[in-house]
Amino acid sequence: MLLKDRVCIVTGGSSGIGRGIALEFAREGACVAVVDKQETPLRGKYHETDVTTPTVTEIEKLGAQGIFRQTDVADVSQVAHAIQQTVDHFGGLDILINNAGIHIPGGAQEISIADWDKVVGVNLRGVFVATKLAIPHLKQSNFGRIIQIASVHAYGGGAGPAYAPAKAAVVNMVRDTALEIGQDGITVNAICPGYIETAIQDYLTPEQIEEALEKTALPRFGLPRDIGRAAVFLASDDAEWITGASLLVDGGFAAGV
Ligand SMILES: NC(=O)c1ccc[n+]([C@@H]2O[C@H](COP(=O)([O-])OP(=O)(O)OC[C@H]3O[C@@H](n4cnc5c(N)ncnc54)[C@H](O)[C@@H]3O)[C@@H](O)[C@H]2O)c1
Repeated sequence: MLLKDRVCIVTGGSSGIGRGIALEFAREGACVAVVDKQETPLRGKYHETDVTTPTVTEIEKLGAQGIFRQTDVADVSQVAHAIQQTVDHFGGLDILINNAGIHIPGGAQEISIADWDKVVGVNLRGVFVATKLAIPHLKQSNFGRIIQIASVHAYGGGAGPAYAPAKAAVVNMVRDTALEIGQDGITVNAICPGYIETAIQDYLTPEQIEEALEKTALPRFGLPRDIGRAAVFLASDDAEWITGASLLVDGGFAAGV
C-alpha cells in the first residue's frame, strides 16, 4: 500500500473525480475525509448515471477509514471547521486535495457577474482558502502534499471567461505555494485533467461530447480512476522530489492544441 495511514482531505469527494481519488486513496490505505457540500453523489445525464452510495460507504467496503464533512468550499468558516474536524478525528493531516469545482456555461456576454463570482469563488478562492488553512497542519506532517485539480482548459480559451482563467490561476498558484513551503518538505502540484466521464459534462450537447472525444488522442474519455491513480502517485513517496509541477492527464487532448 502506497499511502498506508496517511490522512487526506478530498474536497468534492462525493462525486466524479473526487470520488475516484478518494477510492484510490482508500485502496492504498489512506484515511480519507470527504469534504463536499452534499453527501449524495451527483448522477450525470451521460456519465455516472447509476452511482448512488455515499463515497464513505465505498471507502469502508475497501477496508479503509473515511468520514464525511458537509462543507461549502466557498465558505471560509465551513472550510476551517472541516479541516479542524479532520485533524481532530484522524490525529493530523498529510494530504490536501482541492478538487471541488463547478462550471457554469456561457461566454462573456452570457454569464452574469454573480455567476462569474460563483465559479471563481469555488474554483480559485476555494482552493486558496483550503490551502491556506491546511498548511499549518501539513507542516506537522512528514509527508505533506497538496494536489490541486486544475484542467486542460488552464492552457487555452474556449471554456468560458470564469472557469478557464480560474484553472490557469490555480496552475500559477501551485508554483507560488511550492516555493513558499518547499523548505517545510511539503510538495504542491496540480493535475490537469482532460475530458473525464463525470456529471460536470451535463452542460455539453451530445455533438460537443463527440467533438471532445475526437480531439482526445486515446480512444476513450478519462475515468475518475485515471485521475485517482495520478493523484496517488503525486501523494506517494515516489513523488517526493516533484513540486510546482502540473501534470496533464488528458488522454492526449492537449497534444493536438
Ligand atoms: N470531468 C471533467 O471532464 C473535468 C476536466 C477537467 C477538470 N475537471 C475538474 O475536476 C474537478 C472535479 O470535477 P468533476 O468532473 O468530478 O465534477 P462533478 O460535478 O462530477 O463533481 C464535483 C463535486 O464537487 C462538489 N462541489 C461542487 N461545488 C462545491 C462546493 N462549493 N463546496 C464543496 N463541494 C462542492 C459537488 O457536490 C460534487 O460532489 C473540478 O475541479 C473540475 O473543474 C473536470
